[in-house]
Amino acid sequence: MLILSSTVVVILPSLVSSSDLTIKINSSLAISRKNLSHSTLSPSPLHQEVKMSKQVQARRLEGIDKNPWVEFVKLANENEAVNLGQGFPDFAPPEFSTEAFKQAVSGDFMLNQYTRGFGYPPLVKILAQFFGKLLEQDLDPLKNVLVTVGAYGALFYSFQALVDEGDEVILIEPYFDCYEPMTKMAGGCPVFVPLRPPPAHDGRLMSSGDWQLDPAELASKFTPRTKAIVINSPNNPLGKVYSRAELELIANLCKKHDVLCFSDEVYQWLVYDEEKHISIASLPGMWERTLTIGSAGKTFSVTGWKVGWVLGPDYLLKHLRTVHQNCLYHCPTQLQEAVSSSFERELRFFGQPESYFVQLHKDIQKKRDHMVNSLLTIGMTPVVPQGTYFLIADISTFKKKMPHLPGSEGEAYDSRFIKWMIKNKGLAAIPVSVFYSSQQKQHLDHYIRFCFIKNDSTFKAMDDKLQQWKKELEA
Ligand SMILES: Cc1ncc(COP(=O)(O)O)c(C=O)c1O
Repeated sequence: MLILSSTVVVILPSLVSSSDLTIKINSSLAISRKNLSHSTLSPSPLHQEVKMSKQVQARRLEGIDKNPWVEFVKLANENEAVNLGQGFPDFAPPEFSTEAFKQAVSGDFMLNQYTRGFGYPPLVKILAQFFGKLLEQDLDPLKNVLVTVGAYGALFYSFQALVDEGDEVILIEPYFDCYEPMTKMAGGCPVFVPLRPPPAHDGRLMSSGDWQLDPAELASKFTPRTKAIVINSPNNPLGKVYSRAELELIANLCKKHDVLCFSDEVYQWLVYDEEKHISIASLPGMWERTLTIGSAGKTFSVTGWKVGWVLGPDYLLKHLRTVHQNCLYHCPTQLQEAVSSSFERELRFFGQPESYFVQLHKDIQKKRDHMVNSLLTIGMTPVVPQGTYFLIADISTFKKKMPHLPGSEGEAYDSRFIKWMIKNKGLAAIPVSVFYSSQQKQHLDHYIRFCFIKNDSTFKAMDDKLQQWKKELEA
């Protein structure tokens, strides 16, 4: 039995032999191989659904089984749109990382085997050393570091290990979309609090830093049932980098109400201008109640490697280890070796011009500025991000001019707009409403998210499309 999307399918033995099936699968892969990394495969017509007398899906999936990404990625591919939607670099990762991976694959044959389940020893050692320095903590590689399948894995373990039925988890809107389903799958109850844009601004471009929490509103969300708050700095999709004062506000509430903090810091090296990333775990009294989550994918521009980690006190991490032990148990050894060697290199060059972290944010900041200027030419108003490789742009002017775009009933305006933009302008982005709870979606349906970690030819293609669009607007 194969499971494709959320549909249960069986392969009818009378219609297909195992060798036919191999050909079928291989040929469909062959067709899409040139764009395999971001294409969607369709189920074969040979597959049929079984009508079960019982409910097929587990109840914990109710209400979370529709994923907006699949739809937008598919539409972008079908229309060969310039893909500024999904967050991945379309240029080569640093050579020292790919060389380290080649070496791991062709060198010691034992790297083909299982390693320590909770993390390859050289990797946990260098992560403890590297982040111990940043967090000003003496980290024990065996107790305070857990290697996971991407930051997604670290997030999933955090919710599964520490959130119980009925626990409330505070999510700050807009939020990386998996936080809500992960809370619900653990039996928890998401409680939302928004970052609010300023009511009016003086004609200058807004910065992501202008979007702020209302301290009284945030405080009102903490109840005796609150188990955790999730913070994401720099934040996807807004690009907000929390200031020390904002982190102190959150930290004080966590301590006052005895609440845990899941701190998603995957974009910590991508901060611009004079901004500085601060880990909430480095604030007084916060290490004890914080899980700090990171991603090699974002750190070394290798999103397909899916190596992540979580750092925290042993009394919390031991429960994440229990989930890991009984869930995935292990992450690929060769990739862990390549990530550990990349970190060793970065530690040698820490803060110096040769450091990839130092170079990357400078290069990406130029791309950010380029995209901000390009979007302004057609009348979108970007919110300038302090961090990440995303920006959100206000499309209110388009909403006023063409309020009735086609779409399904109840579909948010930003989602309709993106479908229209993909089909008519050949540009793909992501609606910001997918980063909001269902209560807030209607009020924030006039922003769309673009990704700017793209190569020069993608930027050229974007600019060509925008120039064409501008001409049409002026005609
Ligand atoms: C805020 C945030 N957290 C976590 C992740 C997942 O990272 P990984 O690919 O390492 O699982 C992403 C990926 O887009 C992200 O944007």
